[in-house]
Amino acid sequence: MGKGSGYGKVILFGEHFVVYGLPGIASAVGLSTDAIVKKAGALTVCDERAGTEGYSAAKKEHQRESFERMFDMMNLEEKGFDIWLGGALPVMSGIGASAASSVAIARAVSDELGLGYDDARINSTAYEMEKAFAGNPSGIDNTVATYGGLIWFKKNMAGGANDLEPIKIPRPVEIVMGNSGVVADTKAMVAGVAERRAHEPEKYDALFKAYAALVVKARAALEAGDLCAVGAFMDENHALLQKVGTSGVKLDELVALARANGAFGAKVTGGGGGGCMVALTPGKDLQERVADAMEAKGFRVLRTTIG
Ligand code: MEV
Repeated sequence: MGKGSGYGKVILFGEHFVVYGLPGIASAVGLSTDAIVKKAGALTVCDERAGTEGYSAAKKEHQRESFERMFDMMNLEEKGFDIWLGGALPVMSGIGASAASSVAIARAVSDELGLGYDDARINSTAYEMEKAFAGNPSGIDNTVATYGGLIWFKKNMAGGANDLEPIKIPRPVEIVMGNSGVVADTKAMVAGVAERRAHEPEKYDALFKAYAALVVKARAALEAGDLCAVGAFMDENHALLQKVGTSGVKLDELVALARANGAFGAKVTGGGGGGCMVALTPGKDLQERVADAMEAKGFRVLRTTIG
């Protein structure tokens, strides 16, 4: 029997922009997906993860493709495994559920077969698996799922090693992740941005330029512990994502609710079009106030910290 885990994540800055080689900032959320794998005559999956209704069913085909990609990466001819998925990370779009499960499963298969994969090999295997879910992923989700922590990430567009730097902040900071309850198709969202960018290159060049300037300032503010500035940059990042077309009615409603209840900043997180948003809510009291306001409107939330 082999075992493995992978962290969930929150993208604080840069979803979609990271696909094109701009830097992003993401953090593990401290909850993980766990996998247990046992060699068997056929491939079976028992998915006991809690979360958004319909998520696992909607991702079934993507998950099947991700297994094929994993078997190819690992050069496995025997593809029969009983796979169990569980753990504290709820499955919902935007929290890196697919990357967390890819990392967990790759680790568990490596463990079961005694392959001895190190983190770098797990990360590159999970990146290939992520292509089934995101089409053209940047690699940010599987990197956080593998290594955890708070990171600065920049995809190497030439295909070499990505730029990965841990970010240190003065103290952990409370956040609230609000779930729109809508299962999103990350592959379609990533492809949609590529299509719109091809049709409106000038508009997108300007948005990309604005983001590139913003993320550098956001990192400096995070490292300095200037949370007011970090929140303002999150708001700006949200406005850019609205223009890129990856927010949505419920996500905008949650963002407005968070700000009205005192969040320092709020934005869509992850692929968008559904899934989650993130609100910066330093201190337990503010975190509780924002989370309560969302729950009072019927949304499900996750209270956690970054850094
Ligand atoms: C999804 O969590 C983040 C995207 O930027 C896709 C990716 O970077 O792979 C939308």
